[in-house]
Amino acid sequence: MTHFLDINKTQPEALRSIIDHAIEIKNARANAPLGQKDADAPLADRVVALIFDKPSTRTRVSFDVGVRQMGGQPIVLSGKDMQLGHGETISDTAKVMSRYVDLIMIRTFEDATLLEMAESATVPIINGLTNRTHPCQIMADIMTFEEHRGSIKGKKVVWSGAGNNVFSSFVQAAGQFGFDLTFTGPEPLDPERGFLEEALRKGSNIIIERDPHLAFKGADLVVTDTWVSMHDPKTARKRRHNQLRAYQVNTELMSNAKPEALFMHCLPAHRDHEATSEVMDSPNSVIFDEAENRLHVQKAIMRHCLGV
Ligand code: CP
Ligand code: NVA
Repeated sequence: MTHFLDINKTQPEALRSIIDHAIEIKNARANAPLGQKDADAPLADRVVALIFDKPSTRTRVSFDVGVRQMGGQPIVLSGKDMQLGHGETISDTAKVMSRYVDLIMIRTFEDATLLEMAESATVPIINGLTNRTHPCQIMADIMTFEEHRGSIKGKKVVWSGAGNNVFSSFVQAAGQFGFDLTFTGPEPLDPERGFLEEALRKGSNIIIERDPHLAFKGADLVVTDTWVSMHDPKTARKRRHNQLRAYQVNTELMSNAKPEALFMHCLPAHRDHEATSEVMDSPNSVIFDEAENRLHVQKAIMRHCLGV
């Protein structure tokens, strides 16, 4: 069974080939004449379940469109409307769903839910975000960087803000793709220590620099995300804003990075909080390319999982 659960659970060679395949898929579709864009239908006769326990725009639409473009059929489900949300076990749900569909993508809260689903399902499971990680996003981000700037290997990536689920996937990716990663943010919002330790043990070059001006120096890529994630208590909002104000990605901080440094944000963004609109709409911002590439890279991920 080839699941796609986390960046560190897929071999670096497989990750590399997913990115390369995604770029091929994207270019082939762009160059194909209308009427023949989806002529090869690798997911013909296949049904993909997309389960959402949290809100989503990009993940929901890009997976749904991706399955359709590959000739398969998507079913979008809300966890709370399933029996899953009313006491049926994850394991029973996974076994039942495996009798109907060929692939399951799930966006949920606890990592344990994803892992239990993967243990019990007899079809591949894809992680569409948990409280801890967001691997599909980071695959789209690496694809986007490489389309604009070439190989990410040896480049300096700076994350400014809260050490959240999206950042944790960057931590895992640093080792797998061989880029240097600097985290800049306040200590109470440090990334999960376990992820950092695992990455450091594997030889990743990851550092924490509290001073954002120093952290941004020489960056090839600057990344941020919302200061308050979907699973965070709403009461954290005010405190977070005070803790993170100094880490807002603005033109002044960006001036420390290389002039050609790209800016990324997985979106949705709170404009003028974690990043200014001036940065988000600047020529070096690739936020909408990242969003588009979710579609292409997830098509390659689904094909990898199904071996088609
Ligand atoms: N970036 C991302 O996963 O967006 P959605 O929450 O809209 O899916
Ligand atoms: N860190 C954010 C990412 C949303 C795509 C969250 O979990 O809400």
